[in-house]
Amino acid sequence: MSEFVKVARVGDIAPGTGKTLYLGATPVALFNVDGQYYAIHNDCPHEDGPLGEGSLCGSVVTCPLHAYEFDVCSGECLTDSAYCVERFEVRVEGTDILLRRPAP
Ligand code: FES
Repeated sequence: MSEFVKVARVGDIAPGTGKTLYLGATPVALFNVDGQYYAIHNDCPHEDGPLGEGSLCGSVVTCPLHAYEFDVCSGECLTDSAYCVERFEVRVEGTDILLRRPAP
């Protein structure tokens, strides 16, 4: 199983916003939902739009390309159930935010 890796610090991402960062070579969209952090793959499964640049409303991010909506907590697509996006495990240690890719 992979290790947790520090990717950001608490305070880097304001509540209600997201940010694109990398876990190794993998682009990840990290979101702050009312103080809880959630991470999904940055590439929209529709046509690779940058989900980290989407607008966040509650736990729902809207893809900036074609406005498909994804729940950042579950990875489910609310627009088309045929799509879902990979999630990453998030851990906060002190002021550090760490991510880990779940075991397959
Ligand atoms: S690329 Fe995200 S909705 Fe089309």
